[in-house]
Amino acid sequence: MKEIKVGLIGFGTVGSGLAEVMLAQQERLEKRSGLCVRLASVADINIKALPPQFSGVRLHRDAAELINDPEIDIIVELIGGIQPAKTFVMDAISAGKHVVTANKALLSQEGKDIFAAAAAKGVEVGFEASVGGGIPVIKSLKEGLVANKILSIMGIMNGTANYILTRMTDEGVAFDAVLKDAQEQGFAEADPTYDIEGIDTAHKLAILMTMAYGMNITHNDIATEGITRIEPMDIEFAREFGCRIKLLAISRNHGEHVEARVHPTMVPESHLLAKIDGAFNAIHFTGDMVGNVLLYGLGAGKMPTGSAVAADVMDIARDIHAGSVGRVPSLSYLPEYIGERRITSMDELSCPYYFRISARDEPGVLAAIAGILSKNAISIESVIQKGRQESGPVAIVMRTHTAQESAVSAALQEIDDLAVVTAPTVKIRMLEDE
Ligand code: HSE
Repeated sequence: MKEIKVGLIGFGTVGSGLAEVMLAQQERLEKRSGLCVRLASVADINIKALPPQFSGVRLHRDAAELINDPEIDIIVELIGGIQPAKTFVMDAISAGKHVVTANKALLSQEGKDIFAAAAAKGVEVGFEASVGGGIPVIKSLKEGLVANKILSIMGIMNGTANYILTRMTDEGVAFDAVLKDAQEQGFAEADPTYDIEGIDTAHKLAILMTMAYGMNITHNDIATEGITRIEPMDIEFAREFGCRIKLLAISRNHGEHVEARVHPTMVPESHLLAKIDGAFNAIHFTGDMVGNVLLYGLGAGKMPTGSAVAADVMDIARDIHAGSVGRVPSLSYLPEYIGERRITSMDELSCPYYFRISARDEPGVLAAIAGILSKNAISIESVIQKGRQESGPVAIVMRTHTAQESAVSAALQEIDDLAVVTAPTVKIRMLEDE
């Protein structure tokens, strides 16, 4: 049986998950591929020894020893971050190795260099685990949906943010306590700012948009807002409006231009994405031929992510064996067909909005706010103001009909400048049930 050797850089949560998956599924993988795909070497500076079940695997401190080992066919990079991960990946490609990575930050920022180098060298880059953890979203997009123009991408792509919002919704637990739990459970990023500020979700959306539309895009091109300004009372008001608050990645393909945004969104309870709870992820594609497709599963965690990395390793091993390396372009489109597309400016966006305005409870406040909204052609659908405070501000909550983002920005600036308004208004875009 032909042997394919794998070198793994990084034996942390996902790296050890990959090793365990490959070991547990060894026989099944052989029966499914006719190949013996073996983890031969690991490089990690933080561990002194590998667990006893990996006694046949060599441990190095220096990743270069794996990259330069002529016996290694596939290098798996699982250290995360931009450097030294980029150097390892580029060096592996230069050495003619195929590469597998789960590193969404690296791909969304430096993908252009990495995929160009891989195409020039004729090696494959697998990155299934970079989006949606264990969910086979990348393979679905580039193979299952190959015969579709992708009309939209919408999803919950960060387990930490979804876990926090779910527990705040179901149990009324405070933001900080839930974040600590998510970190302990191992699905938050090393720097959880990426999770709660929507940056991790933007990394993933950039990767999907590149593949869906054949366009150059980095996460810096995506309008991104996180969940840190969401308070329990927003969740309660959302419930009164029949909605759940979710951190969504949204992209719609308008032909001439494409939307690219990540922000907290009020999702009607009847919508499938409103029902995705806890650390689960869900990615929804609309294709012009297939219609709607929803992929659901665990977006993080040792074994689910290990399963996705192993799937890439097996794909590459099969291609090596069949002499069909490059059969499926890494980014779905051939490199020469990946070009520039205009990204829709946020000012052009139209949707219904939720506003939570903090104001002193005085006569004429509501009239002043309504006047500003009316002047900016924003029509109010409903207003809630609960209880009267003995002292201090009250929350005036409004839901609008569909309005233009540019008008909303202008109106909120004027509202926040009113002397009776005591804090910046919280604005949450609402998703219309499609
Ligand atoms: N921090 C990420 C999440 C891990 O919480 O979803 C998977 O990318």
